[in-house]
Amino acid sequence: MSVDILLGLQWGDEGKGKIVDYLAPKYDNVARFQGGPNAGHTLEFDGIKHVLHQIPSGIFRPNAKNLIGNGVVLDLVIFKREVEGLEQYNVNFGNLQISKKTQLILPTHRLLDAAYEKAKGDKKIGSTLKGIGPTYQDKIGRVGLRVGDIVLDNFKDKYNQLVAKHQLVLDEHQIEYNLDELNAEFFTAVEFVKSKFNIVDGEYEINQAISSNETVLAEGAQGSLLDIDFGSYPFVTSSNTTAAGVCSGLGVAPRNIGEVYGIFKAYCTRVGSGPFPTELFDEIGKKIQKEGNEFGATTGRERRCGWLDLPALKYACMINGVTQLFMMKADVLNIFEEIKVCTHYELENGENTDVLPFDISVPIKPVYQTLKGWNQSLEGIDTYDGFPQELKDYVDFIEKEVGVKINIVSVGPDRVQTIVREEIQIGSK
Ligand code: GDP
Ligand code: IMO
Ligand code: MG
Repeated sequence: MSVDILLGLQWGDEGKGKIVDYLAPKYDNVARFQGGPNAGHTLEFDGIKHVLHQIPSGIFRPNAKNLIGNGVVLDLVIFKREVEGLEQYNVNFGNLQISKKTQLILPTHRLLDAAYEKAKGDKKIGSTLKGIGPTYQDKIGRVGLRVGDIVLDNFKDKYNQLVAKHQLVLDEHQIEYNLDELNAEFFTAVEFVKSKFNIVDGEYEINQAISSNETVLAEGAQGSLLDIDFGSYPFVTSSNTTAAGVCSGLGVAPRNIGEVYGIFKAYCTRVGSGPFPTELFDEIGKKIQKEGNEFGATTGRERRCGWLDLPALKYACMINGVTQLFMMKADVLNIFEEIKVCTHYELENGENTDVLPFDISVPIKPVYQTLKGWNQSLEGIDTYDGFPQELKDYVDFIEKEVGVKINIVSVGPDRVQTIVREEIQIGSK
């Protein structure tokens, strides 16, 4: 069996958590391959809303084994809190494994994140301040600590050495902190993980699953336009959020990749700084924000809102090799009589382009096509055929422009508010 991937095609928060949870009954394994607690993945079912940060979104499905892969950066303090928050729901944590090669976020990484952001002034990334950038920096700098290290006798020494390095930078930035408190919290979490969780050779687990004909779903975090290589650099996160990240983030060979489910909102949002060509600064943007409840699941920050950006969507499909599209939050557009879609950009010299500019300071003006809205509630509709014609036209228009079939339309946050057009083919290679 091959590994299928579900990933975000925009700037994150497309609804990945909801769909991973929805698809998980079809999968024997669900694995996170990058990112860390900067992610906030929301799942809703049985009238309860859960927000997961580091635990894969298959955790509520008893059939699925869940793996935190080596490409992830893991904050054990946040992880402990996350696990404890779920204990009342009878979650089977025996189904959760952590790769030995997963990098550890230390408390000082979080402080460094804040220091670096502050130093950037008005050029700040708008980071979630969870220590993501500094942890990946240490990984690439070959000084990071990994989950497998926590069982070693010399772990404390290794930890102290890295923390001492961080302190030099923190002192430079005149950051105040109580290291004893941070250390105590960290080592309590280390003991918690050591005593309760299965720390495994993730790459062997996944490849064993593949050769035993088990199905695997890789769960992306963030979105393609936040990818360290292909996003709007430097306003990006520090990992490969795109399909290629699955190979290095889990130890899966490219030939073992199957379906690539690309998930996007029927409009666009972005949280944090950086270019956003179709951003709306008017009442319409505010309406989308209100209808879509567009506030960050991790930081609670307002999400910037705008119309769907087709050049950006096509770009994300190209980079990821998307085989099926899932369109989320269609219901948020119920209130509009007209819906706009950006089909291309106009440059300052009047030329048209649908290429995302390398230089993000180059001004580009989105050019829109206006479509008729369906302007009605979608409540009670449980088949694709039952959708209003205008919504089907919207789907057709996007499909034709992008050249990939839209197979799921999501019409609400709950698991059951998911309209599937054709039975999803899984592990199809
Ligand atoms: P993720 O990071 O990609 O998992 O997405 P988030 O959980 O950060 O943000 C998506 C938000 O939209 C969450 O609050 C979801 O509950 C909600 N959501 C998901 N799908 C739908 C949908 O189809 N309609 C509406 N109205 N809300 C949705
Ligand atoms: P999920 O998985 C939306 C954004 C931050 C910031 C930039 C860098 O829930 O979709 P970082 O903390 O990585 O240094 O922040 O990326 N960002 C996200 N935006 N959804 C996310 O995750 C995000 N994770 C990071 O707002 O602009
Ligand atoms: Mg999110």
